[in-house]
Amino acid sequence: MIVALLNQQGGVGKTTLALHLAGVWACQGRRVAVIDADPDACAVEWSELRAQETLPSRFTVIAIARDTLHRELAAVARDVDRAIVDGPSHIEPITRSALMAADFVLVLVQPPPFQGLAFVETLRLANGMMTVRPQLRIRLVLNRCSVRARVTRDPTQALAGYDPRALTSSITELHGLCQRNGKRPARLRDAVQRGCHPRDYRARRRSRKDRAMTNSDPEHTNDLTQVELLWLKKRIENWMRFGRIAEEKIINSNRRVVSFPPGSIFAFVRWASNDYGTVASRIDILRAVGLGERYSTVSYVRPGAEILLRLAGWPKVEKVLHAIDAVEALGIDPADAAPEHWRHVHNRLSVSEAPRRYTQTRHQAWLYRRRVTL
Ligand SMILES: Nc1ncnc2c1ncn2[C@@H]1O[C@H](COP(=O)(O)OP(=O)(O)O)[C@@H](O)[C@H]1O
Ligand SMILES: [Mg+2]
Repeated sequence: MIVALLNQQGGVGKTTLALHLAGVWACQGRRVAVIDADPDACAVEWSELRAQETLPSRFTVIAIARDTLHRELAAVARDVDRAIVDGPSHIEPITRSALMAADFVLVLVQPPPFQGLAFVETLRLANGMMTVRPQLRIRLVLNRCSVRARVTRDPTQALAGYDPRALTSSITELHGLCQRNGKRPARLRDAVQRGCHPRDYRARRRSRKDRAMTNSDPEHTNDLTQVELLWLKKRIENWMRFGRIAEEKIINSNRRVVSFPPGSIFAFVRWASNDYGTVASRIDILRAVGLGERYSTVSYVRPGAEILLRLAGWPKVEKVLHAIDAVEALGIDPADAAPEHWRHVHNRLSVSEAPRRYTQTRHQAWLYRRRVTL
């Protein structure tokens, strides 16, 4: 059976519920696969973190964030009892594709005023699909209901104007999804084991010391940016495509940490697979920040970095690798290329357009600008 969790809006709890449903069904002895149909790949990231912490995997997570999902799902669903699609936000072709394959659709809704009403659009798509697939079952799930809210007491009335009215379930707001006895888990391992959303864990960690997204982490003893490279052959392979490493620390045969000085640019490739083949591939081109500079959090990078390029999915990752090869073919170390070039490559590939080639003239202009601004 294929169950799709959908709502064109992000942040309504699709990933959270997909992983929890998968966990419950897997514990009941069912063979389960979660299909991460969101290019954000949060479910994949969660499963990577579990593997990294050597926690057992009770179900498999596969990234298929493309509009050919309906065709690819059939093969996955054949091997499992439950295939759970964690739907994307704001990507209608993938939502449609999920609807073409699903047996059961759960549209997640947050309590009134129903935040942005994006779910109405999702319901419209789902109801439209029922004209060609009458066997499709659609249900609404109210998520994050406060116990005192009127909708929790009388949800059917609140949803009376929508089709279908049938409400499968309402889930209460769990205060601190990643807390136990009111405490944040001390270690990432505990958080991931408990099903805590990786994003929540990181956010809580950061806010605790009020790091305000600037590089002033007191646990970070120098101004180097550290990247953890994990290599579990044929499962998780993280590697540097370019960048001038200032320090390297071998932790064990699978793990090493490489460091970069502030201002340096490096490319970090992550690839993960399981029995079904590649589940995720992504590339980040990052600029290491100095103390006090703003940064974004990036998995495996401590404390974080300025993101110049961030793309997922093998076709895009491959194009970025070609763009890096093209810079090297000019005899230029990609770590020295203008940061704007990587931003440009990111912007163009994000909308499936070909990026401009880097040229010697551009490079000379960048070197000159760098000299006069430093
Ligand atoms: N029932 C709930 N109670 C409390 N927090 C929740 C609940 N469901 C989801 N969340 C939180 O809401 C946020 C968004 O959830 P997520 O599953 O990523 O949404 P989506 O996949 O729709 O973008 C996460 O921080 C998650 O922990
Ligand atoms: Mg999600």
